[in-house]
Amino acid sequence: MTSVLGIETSCDETAAALVRGGREVRSNVVFSQEDLHRRFGGVVPELASRQHVLGIMPAVHRALAEAGASWDDVGAVAVSRGPGLAGSLLVGVNVAKAVAAGRGLPLVAVNHLEGHVYANWLTAGAAPLFPLLCLVVSGGHTELVLMEDHGKYRLLGRTRDDAAGEAFDKVARILGLGYPGGPAVERAAASIAPGDIPERLQLTRPWLRGGFDFSFSGLKTAVLRLVEGGVSGPVGNPSRLALVAAGRAAEAGSATAADASLQQSETALLAAAFQEAVVDVLAGKTCRAAEALGARQIALAGGVAANGRLREVLSARAPVPVLTPELRFCTDNAAMIAAAGYFRLQAGEIAGWDLDIAPSLRLA
Ligand code: KG4
Ligand code: ZN
Repeated sequence: MTSVLGIETSCDETAAALVRGGREVRSNVVFSQEDLHRRFGGVVPELASRQHVLGIMPAVHRALAEAGASWDDVGAVAVSRGPGLAGSLLVGVNVAKAVAAGRGLPLVAVNHLEGHVYANWLTAGAAPLFPLLCLVVSGGHTELVLMEDHGKYRLLGRTRDDAAGEAFDKVARILGLGYPGGPAVERAAASIAPGDIPERLQLTRPWLRGGFDFSFSGLKTAVLRLVEGGVSGPVGNPSRLALVAAGRAAEAGSATAADASLQQSETALLAAAFQEAVVDVLAGKTCRAAEALGARQIALAGGVAANGRLREVLSARAPVPVLTPELRFCTDNAAMIAAAGYFRLQAGEIAGWDLDIAPSLRLA
């Protein structure tokens, strides 16, 4: 079976991987740029593309070495062409072209979001079953898509404003929890049992009744209001909460250790309240769509699919089995691109040398 070399540089991970037959991961190399971007509180596009230039060939060589493979073992090169940051995508697409041309290999273009979906093929056991309902939740996208076959997607709903991951990132910033936000919010919320979130912090769910679209910017604003306006309740001094929440504990001046731990638990409560609201809406709409469209399985995809509470709630409520990729295949990686590329290759879809990036590419 063909081994595909995957290349992924759409955002801030420089990644290369070798995957056999679309399912067997022979190697998966991810050079994270987290440390580079952390002090800016988010990804700086120009820095990201420069770092991709430095990292991508070392990543490719390491992917081959870790797989114990030579170039003769590689049957095709698959690359993310979009969506993503233009300057970052350019690096991956040009490297993929150069490598494919130099080694006489077919070049396969992959939609990054489709890659996230194919992370669900990188597991042991039976392959996913169609029609497969995919909840794609990443830093830039929130889409509910019915996958009817390989490469066949029907868009059911998408976010009208912030993506789920983007909302996690923004709320993390509001609460002073750092970057990247999703894991930070999940960690902060971990100490709170969902039943312990007080009434005053219950956030109104943006159900947008009737359809499968999402909206998360209101939840983020609600958290901001609670922090800025001061949360009534045991915290006491609201402006001090705002300062501590913004990560400027020192400016809180007279905050005692007891105050600080109260503020911390208030931050944990807010993180949990936000996470519960997002998870409730994501899981609720996905379950309703699975029923309405007769999906045989549900597949979680994208960085937010790493969220333990989302995995737990969706699995508990879903009317059909829920597939969840391994955590390392939820956030950006090249194994998922190689997997998607393998199935594109099977369908005879080989890209031309004029392949261009597509920063705003859609899945369906
Ligand atoms: O798929 P991904 O790695 O990159 C994009 O294609 O956007 O997703 C990154 C997003 C970020 O917004 C990050 O905060 C979020 O996924 N994320 C999480 C978790 N891990 C990553 N969100 C919630 N809980 C997590 N554990
Ligand atoms: Zn992604």
